[in-house]
Amino acid sequence: MAKITEQIKEPIAAEMAAFEDKFRDSMSSRVALLNRITHYIVNRKGKQMRPMFVFLVAKLASGGTISERTYRGASVIELIHTATLVHDDVVDDSNKRRGFFSINALWKNKIAVLVGDYLLSKGLLLSIDHGDFDLLRIISVAVREMSEGELLQMEKARRLDITEEVYYEIIRQKTATLIAACCAMGACSVCPDNAPLIEKMRCFGEYVGMAFQIKDDLFDYTEEAIGKPTGIDIKEQKMTLPLIYALNQASEEDRKWLINSVKNHNTDKKRVKEVIAYVKAHGGIERTEAKMREYQAKALAILSDFPDSPYKKSLLQIVDYVIERTV
Ligand code: IPE
Ligand code: IPE
Ligand code: MG
Ligand code: MG
Repeated sequence: MAKITEQIKEPIAAEMAAFEDKFRDSMSSRVALLNRITHYIVNRKGKQMRPMFVFLVAKLASGGTISERTYRGASVIELIHTATLVHDDVVDDSNKRRGFFSINALWKNKIAVLVGDYLLSKGLLLSIDHGDFDLLRIISVAVREMSEGELLQMEKARRLDITEEVYYEIIRQKTATLIAACCAMGACSVCPDNAPLIEKMRCFGEYVGMAFQIKDDLFDYTEEAIGKPTGIDIKEQKMTLPLIYALNQASEEDRKWLINSVKNHNTDKKRVKEVIAYVKAHGGIERTEAKMREYQAKALAILSDFPDSPYKKSLLQIVDYVIERTV
């Protein structure tokens, strides 16, 4: 399954169409340069998986009705997601995003940093201006955790001493927390007083997010065209689960070679290819895929508590999509 199918989107097709316009409007500015850049961004949209989670969870929680709060929640999330991608490409020195040049590649780092800040503030103001303080709290926790996750990742990249547990903490913070926020916001936008339901959906989103980032880290070990560079994690000294598993089972000698490769030869393309081959030959990919499926199963188990509905069906399918996707 390469794309999020029309069938998955069917129960929220009208909402997603209305969302597109609202999202576009939410970025507008009086500064011409900013408008040029935000146009560039909205014309190269991503999968829009996060707003889909907001709408589907809202409908699951309410039995089919959503509100303007749900729309605002979806826009806030996508604004913040976009801001973090713009910043992430500066941090990772990456020149491609969604199959096109990244903002930093076209307009340089200085402008990309400021555009990211602008999008972040537009997101937060969208909640504040409408008094959606419960939604604002959910999203603010996610923003804080995403920054912490990126910094924890950098701390570990410097010292190359990452464990499996720390890896989970990094991906929970940098990625899963935002998908958790989508699901919590979806529920909170329609059932603000149902704390147990909001927490349940937050938990569902967190499991989905863990599986999602593990899949993203697996992509880095492939040579498929996914719209952004692959094979760059080792270059960036980012040690992800496939490599952690390979290190855990390596002999002392192999371990030294692997660590030395990442530490001192991370820009040597041939050496990086050898490391990737080592990881593949020692079961790093299979074990990582198994872990991804564990998180998928945990997410699906939460949905099993809900009665059948078109929204539940789409959520079940989107969880499968997360681990089977090809971009
Ligand atoms: C990319 O997220 C960032 C990660 C958390 C891996 P997506 O893959 O959802 O990005 P777009 O919005 O579809 O481009
Ligand atoms: C994910 O980080 C982006 C954020 C959570 C901000 P990565 O650096 O691993 O993701 P890609 O591969 O650039 O999308
Ligand atoms: Mg990156
Ligand atoms: Mg990054």
